[in-house]
Amino acid sequence: MATGYGKVILLGEHAVVYGYPALASALPCGVTLEAAPGALSVRVPSWELDVDVAASPAHPVARALVAVAGAVAARAARELPAAALRGDAQLWPAAGLGSSGALCVAIARALAAAAQVELSDAEIAEVANRGEQIFHGSPSGLDVALAASGRAGVFRRGRGLTPVRLRPLTLVIGHSGEPRSTARMVARVAEQTGGDPADARLLALADATSRGVEAATTGARADLGLAMRDAQRVLAELGVSTPRLDALCTAAEGAGALGAKLTGAGGGGCAIALVADDAAPVVDAWQRLGARTRVEVLG
Ligand code: PMV
Repeated sequence: MATGYGKVILLGEHAVVYGYPALASALPCGVTLEAAPGALSVRVPSWELDVDVAASPAHPVARALVAVAGAVAARAARELPAAALRGDAQLWPAAGLGSSGALCVAIARALAAAAQVELSDAEIAEVANRGEQIFHGSPSGLDVALAASGRAGVFRRGRGLTPVRLRPLTLVIGHSGEPRSTARMVARVAEQTGGDPADARLLALADATSRGVEAATTGARADLGLAMRDAQRVLAELGVSTPRLDALCTAAEGAGALGAKLTGAGGGGCAIALVADDAAPVVDAWQRLGARTRVEVLG
Protein backbone atom coordinates (compact mmCIF):
# COMPACT_ATOMS: atom_id res chain seq x y z
CA MET A 1 0.00 0.00 0.00
CA ALA A 2 1.21 3.52 -0.81
CA THR A 3 0.70 5.84 2.16
CA GLY A 4 0.60 9.60 2.59
CA TYR A 5 0.28 10.70 6.22
CA GLY A 6 -1.89 13.47 7.59
CA LYS A 7 -0.32 16.18 9.68
CA VAL A 8 -0.93 18.56 12.49
CA ILE A 9 0.82 21.93 12.70
CA LEU A 10 1.66 22.62 16.33
CA LEU A 11 3.06 26.10 15.65
CA GLY A 12 4.06 28.29 12.72
CA GLU A 13 1.26 28.05 10.13
CA HIS A 14 1.11 31.12 7.86
CA ALA A 15 4.50 32.37 9.14
CA VAL A 16 6.00 29.37 7.29
CA VAL A 17 4.78 30.88 4.00
CA TYR A 18 7.10 33.86 4.73
CA GLY A 19 10.16 31.68 5.40
CA TYR A 20 9.84 31.18 9.17
CA PRO A 21 10.06 27.68 10.68
CA ALA A 22 6.95 25.66 11.58
CA LEU A 23 6.75 22.81 14.09
CA ALA A 24 4.54 19.99 12.90
CA SER A 25 4.03 16.28 13.18
CA ALA A 26 2.68 13.67 10.84
CA LEU A 27 -0.37 11.82 12.14
CA PRO A 28 -0.27 8.02 12.26
CA CYS A 29 -3.11 7.90 9.71
CA GLY A 30 -3.63 9.33 6.25
CA VAL A 31 -4.44 8.10 2.77
CA THR A 32 -3.53 4.66 1.41
CA LEU A 33 -3.75 3.79 -2.29
CA GLU A 34 -3.00 0.83 -4.49
CA ALA A 35 -2.51 0.93 -8.26
CA ALA A 36 -4.14 -1.53 -10.64
CA PRO A 37 -3.93 -1.54 -14.46
CA GLY A 38 -6.68 0.72 -15.83
CA ALA A 39 -7.57 4.26 -16.88
CA LEU A 40 -5.87 7.01 -14.85
CA SER A 41 -8.30 7.56 -11.97
CA VAL A 42 -8.54 7.70 -8.20
CA ARG A 43 -11.26 6.36 -5.93
CA VAL A 44 -11.42 6.88 -2.15
CA PRO A 45 -14.92 5.80 -1.04
CA SER A 46 -14.59 7.14 2.53
CA TRP A 47 -14.23 10.65 1.02
CA GLU A 48 -16.88 9.94 -1.65
CA LEU A 49 -14.10 10.64 -4.13
CA ASP A 50 -14.30 8.94 -7.53
CA VAL A 51 -12.52 10.82 -10.30
CA ASP A 52 -11.59 9.52 -13.73
CA VAL A 53 -9.20 11.84 -15.58
CA ALA A 54 -10.67 11.21 -19.03
CA ALA A 55 -14.26 11.76 -17.82
CA SER A 56 -13.62 14.87 -15.68
CA PRO A 57 -10.31 16.45 -16.71
CA ALA A 58 -11.13 19.80 -15.04
CA HIS A 59 -11.78 18.28 -11.60
CA PRO A 60 -9.03 19.53 -9.22
CA VAL A 61 -8.22 15.94 -8.18
CA ALA A 62 -7.89 14.94 -11.86
CA ARG A 63 -5.60 17.91 -12.48
CA ALA A 64 -3.52 17.02 -9.41
CA LEU A 65 -3.32 13.39 -10.53
CA VAL A 66 -2.11 14.42 -13.99
CA ALA A 67 0.42 16.84 -12.48
CA VAL A 68 1.85 14.21 -10.10
CA ALA A 69 1.88 11.53 -12.82
CA GLY A 70 3.76 13.93 -15.11
CA ALA A 71 6.33 14.67 -12.41
CA VAL A 72 6.86 10.96 -11.61
CA ALA A 73 7.25 10.20 -15.35
CA ALA A 74 9.81 13.03 -15.65
CA ARG A 75 11.80 11.57 -12.73
CA ALA A 76 11.60 8.09 -14.28
CA ALA A 77 12.48 9.54 -17.70
CA ARG A 78 9.81 7.37 -19.33
CA GLU A 79 6.06 7.02 -19.73
CA LEU A 80 4.18 5.51 -16.81
CA PRO A 81 1.80 2.57 -17.17
CA ALA A 82 -1.85 3.75 -16.91
CA ALA A 83 -3.03 3.16 -13.36
CA ALA A 84 -6.35 3.13 -11.55
CA LEU A 85 -5.73 4.10 -7.93
CA ARG A 86 -8.05 2.73 -5.24
CA GLY A 87 -7.82 3.12 -1.50
CA ASP A 88 -8.95 4.50 1.79
CA ALA A 89 -8.55 7.60 3.98
CA GLN A 90 -8.69 7.85 7.75
CA LEU A 91 -8.47 11.66 7.87
CA TRP A 92 -11.17 14.31 7.91
CA PRO A 93 -10.88 15.97 4.49
CA ALA A 94 -10.34 19.73 4.05
CA ALA A 95 -9.97 20.30 7.80
CA GLY A 96 -6.37 21.54 8.10
CA LEU A 97 -4.99 18.04 8.70
CA GLY A 98 -3.13 17.85 5.40
CA SER A 99 -5.63 15.73 3.51
CA SER A 100 -4.65 17.02 0.07
CA GLY A 101 -0.93 16.63 0.83
CA ALA A 102 -1.55 13.07 2.04
CA LEU A 103 -3.55 12.30 -1.11
CA CYS A 104 -0.83 13.71 -3.40
CA VAL A 105 1.90 11.74 -1.59
CA ALA A 106 -0.13 8.51 -1.73
CA ILE A 107 -0.71 9.12 -5.47
CA ALA A 108 3.03 9.75 -6.02
CA ARG A 109 4.02 6.61 -4.12
CA ALA A 110 1.40 4.41 -5.82
CA LEU A 111 2.38 5.59 -9.31
CA ALA A 112 6.11 5.24 -8.56
CA ALA A 113 5.54 1.69 -7.24
CA ALA A 114 3.47 0.75 -10.31
CA ALA A 115 6.27 2.03 -12.56
CA GLN A 116 8.97 0.44 -10.36
CA VAL A 117 10.66 3.80 -9.82
CA GLU A 118 12.58 4.22 -6.54
CA LEU A 119 12.13 7.70 -5.07
CA SER A 120 13.40 9.08 -1.75
CA ASP A 121 11.01 10.81 0.69
CA ALA A 122 12.31 14.19 -0.50
CA GLU A 123 11.72 13.25 -4.15
CA ILE A 124 8.22 11.96 -3.32
CA ALA A 125 7.47 15.25 -1.56
CA GLU A 126 8.74 17.21 -4.54
CA VAL A 127 6.58 15.40 -7.11
CA ALA A 128 3.58 15.41 -4.76
CA ASN A 129 3.92 19.19 -4.37
CA ARG A 130 3.03 19.53 -8.07
CA GLY A 131 -0.38 18.17 -7.17
CA GLU A 132 -0.62 20.24 -3.99
CA GLN A 133 -0.05 23.37 -6.12
CA ILE A 134 -3.31 22.59 -7.97
CA PHE A 135 -5.19 22.71 -4.65
CA HIS A 136 -3.37 25.56 -2.90
CA GLY A 137 -1.59 27.73 -5.46
CA SER A 138 1.78 28.27 -3.81
CA PRO A 139 2.03 25.90 -0.84
CA SER A 140 5.04 26.12 1.45
CA GLY A 141 5.66 22.38 0.94
CA LEU A 142 5.16 21.59 4.63
CA ASP A 143 2.18 19.27 4.12
CA VAL A 144 3.80 17.06 1.50
CA ALA A 145 7.10 16.91 3.43
CA LEU A 146 5.28 15.59 6.50
CA ALA A 147 2.98 13.36 4.44
CA ALA A 148 6.06 11.72 2.90
CA SER A 149 8.19 11.47 6.05
CA GLY A 150 5.54 10.30 8.52
CA ARG A 151 7.54 11.98 11.33
CA ALA A 152 7.69 15.16 13.38
CA GLY A 153 9.93 17.99 12.35
CA VAL A 154 10.70 21.63 11.90
CA PHE A 155 9.93 22.71 8.35
CA ARG A 156 11.38 25.69 6.55
CA ARG A 157 10.41 26.72 3.07
CA GLY A 158 13.23 25.97 0.64
CA ARG A 159 15.14 23.94 3.25
CA GLY A 160 12.65 21.15 3.86
CA LEU A 161 12.00 19.15 7.00
CA THR A 162 14.48 18.69 9.84
CA PRO A 163 13.28 15.75 11.95
CA VAL A 164 12.85 16.43 15.68
CA ARG A 165 12.18 14.04 18.51
CA LEU A 166 9.10 15.28 20.37
CA ARG A 167 8.63 14.36 24.00
CA PRO A 168 5.27 12.55 24.28
CA LEU A 169 2.34 14.94 23.83
CA THR A 170 -1.38 14.29 24.10
CA LEU A 171 -3.40 16.40 21.71
CA VAL A 172 -7.13 16.61 21.28
CA ILE A 173 -8.14 17.55 17.74
CA GLY A 174 -11.60 19.06 17.33
CA HIS A 175 -13.36 19.75 14.05
CA SER A 176 -15.19 23.09 13.99
CA GLY A 177 -17.44 21.76 11.23
CA GLU A 178 -16.78 24.98 9.31
CA PRO A 179 -15.62 24.63 5.70
CA ARG A 180 -12.46 26.52 4.77
CA SER A 181 -10.10 27.39 1.99
CA THR A 182 -6.34 27.41 2.51
CA ALA A 183 -5.80 29.69 -0.50
CA ARG A 184 -8.31 32.26 0.85
CA MET A 185 -6.69 32.29 4.29
CA VAL A 186 -3.17 32.63 2.84
CA ALA A 187 -4.49 35.57 0.76
CA ARG A 188 -6.03 37.14 3.89
CA VAL A 189 -2.69 37.05 5.71
CA ALA A 190 -1.00 38.60 2.66
CA GLU A 191 -3.59 41.42 2.72
CA GLN A 192 -3.12 41.96 6.47
CA THR A 193 0.67 42.01 6.36
CA GLY A 194 1.13 43.58 2.93
CA GLY A 195 3.25 40.51 2.24
CA ASP A 196 5.99 41.92 4.50
CA PRO A 197 7.93 39.14 6.29
CA ALA A 198 8.99 41.73 8.92
CA ASP A 199 5.34 42.32 9.96
CA ALA A 200 5.22 42.27 13.78
CA ARG A 201 2.53 39.57 13.81
CA LEU A 202 4.61 37.21 11.67
CA LEU A 203 7.59 37.87 13.95
CA ALA A 204 5.39 37.08 16.96
CA LEU A 205 4.34 33.78 15.35
CA ALA A 206 7.99 32.95 14.66
CA ASP A 207 8.86 33.73 18.29
CA ALA A 208 6.08 31.44 19.56
CA THR A 209 7.36 28.68 17.26
CA SER A 210 10.92 28.99 18.48
CA ARG A 211 9.79 28.82 22.15
CA GLY A 212 7.51 25.90 21.24
CA VAL A 213 10.27 23.88 19.54
CA GLU A 214 12.44 24.20 22.64
CA ALA A 215 9.51 23.22 24.89
CA ALA A 216 8.31 20.31 22.72
CA THR A 217 11.76 18.75 22.56
CA THR A 218 12.58 19.16 26.25
CA GLY A 219 9.16 18.11 27.55
CA ALA A 220 8.27 21.56 28.97
CA ARG A 221 4.60 21.07 28.17
CA ALA A 222 3.33 24.11 30.08
CA ASP A 223 5.64 26.34 27.99
CA LEU A 224 4.45 24.66 24.80
CA GLY A 225 0.87 25.36 25.89
CA LEU A 226 1.72 29.04 26.45
CA ALA A 227 3.36 29.29 23.02
CA MET A 228 0.19 27.78 21.49
CA ARG A 229 -2.00 30.34 23.32
CA ASP A 230 0.21 33.19 22.06
CA ALA A 231 0.09 31.84 18.49
CA GLN A 232 -3.71 31.61 18.61
CA ARG A 233 -3.97 35.24 19.74
CA VAL A 234 -1.83 36.37 16.80
CA LEU A 235 -3.62 34.15 14.28
CA ALA A 236 -6.92 35.68 15.46
CA GLU A 237 -5.43 39.20 14.98
CA LEU A 238 -4.48 38.20 11.43
CA GLY A 239 -8.14 37.32 10.80
CA VAL A 240 -7.74 33.56 10.23
CA SER A 241 -9.58 32.38 13.33
CA THR A 242 -13.38 32.29 13.56
CA PRO A 243 -15.79 32.80 16.48
CA ARG A 244 -16.31 29.04 16.51
CA LEU A 245 -12.56 28.26 16.63
CA ASP A 246 -12.14 30.93 19.35
CA ALA A 247 -14.98 29.30 21.33
CA LEU A 248 -13.37 25.84 20.99
CA CYS A 249 -10.02 27.22 22.25
CA THR A 250 -11.68 29.00 25.20
CA ALA A 251 -13.66 25.87 26.10
CA ALA A 252 -10.53 23.68 25.94
CA GLU A 253 -8.59 26.00 28.21
CA GLY A 254 -11.61 26.18 30.56
CA ALA A 255 -11.50 22.37 30.69
CA GLY A 256 -7.84 22.39 31.75
CA ALA A 257 -5.93 22.30 28.44
CA LEU A 258 -2.41 23.76 28.68
CA GLY A 259 -3.04 25.62 25.45
CA ALA A 260 -5.26 25.50 22.37
CA LYS A 261 -5.15 26.98 18.89
CA LEU A 262 -6.39 26.53 15.37
CA THR A 263 -4.22 24.26 13.22
CA GLY A 264 -3.55 24.66 9.51
CA ALA A 265 -4.82 27.60 7.52
CA GLY A 266 -7.78 28.40 9.79
CA GLY A 267 -11.01 30.08 8.68
CA GLY A 268 -12.64 26.85 9.90
CA GLY A 269 -11.25 23.34 9.99
CA CYS A 270 -9.69 22.05 13.19
CA ALA A 271 -8.49 23.28 16.57
CA ILE A 272 -5.93 21.43 18.70
CA ALA A 273 -5.63 21.37 22.48
CA LEU A 274 -2.58 20.20 24.43
CA VAL A 275 -3.56 18.38 27.62
CA ALA A 276 -1.37 17.45 30.58
CA ASP A 277 -2.55 13.84 30.73
CA ASP A 278 -6.33 13.24 30.78
CA ALA A 279 -7.93 14.18 27.46
CA ALA A 280 -11.50 13.41 28.63
CA PRO A 281 -12.45 16.88 30.00
CA VAL A 282 -11.51 18.60 26.72
CA VAL A 283 -13.17 15.87 24.64
CA ASP A 284 -16.36 16.33 26.70
CA ALA A 285 -16.25 20.13 26.46
CA TRP A 286 -15.81 20.02 22.69
CA GLN A 287 -18.44 17.35 22.17
CA ARG A 288 -20.89 19.49 24.19
CA LEU A 289 -20.19 22.21 21.59
CA GLY A 290 -21.00 19.72 18.83
CA ALA A 291 -17.42 19.23 17.59
CA ARG A 292 -16.14 15.89 16.35
CA THR A 293 -12.99 14.97 18.26
CA ARG A 294 -10.02 12.64 18.07
CA VAL A 295 -7.16 12.15 20.51
CA GLU A 296 -3.59 11.71 19.24
CA VAL A 297 -0.48 10.92 21.26
CA LEU A 298 2.59 12.26 19.43
CA GLY A 299 6.25 11.62 20.13
O1 PMV B 1 -4.69 24.05 6.31
P1 PMV B 1 -3.61 23.36 5.58
O2 PMV B 1 -3.45 21.95 5.92
O3 PMV B 1 -3.74 23.60 4.11
O4 PMV B 1 -2.22 24.05 6.06
C1 PMV B 1 -1.84 25.29 5.54
C2 PMV B 1 -0.60 25.79 6.20
C3 PMV B 1 -0.28 27.21 5.74
O5 PMV B 1 0.90 27.61 6.44
C4 PMV B 1 -1.39 28.19 6.09
C5 PMV B 1 -0.04 27.30 4.23
C6 PMV B 1 1.24 26.62 3.75
O6 PMV B 1 1.36 26.48 2.53
O7 PMV B 1 2.11 26.27 4.56
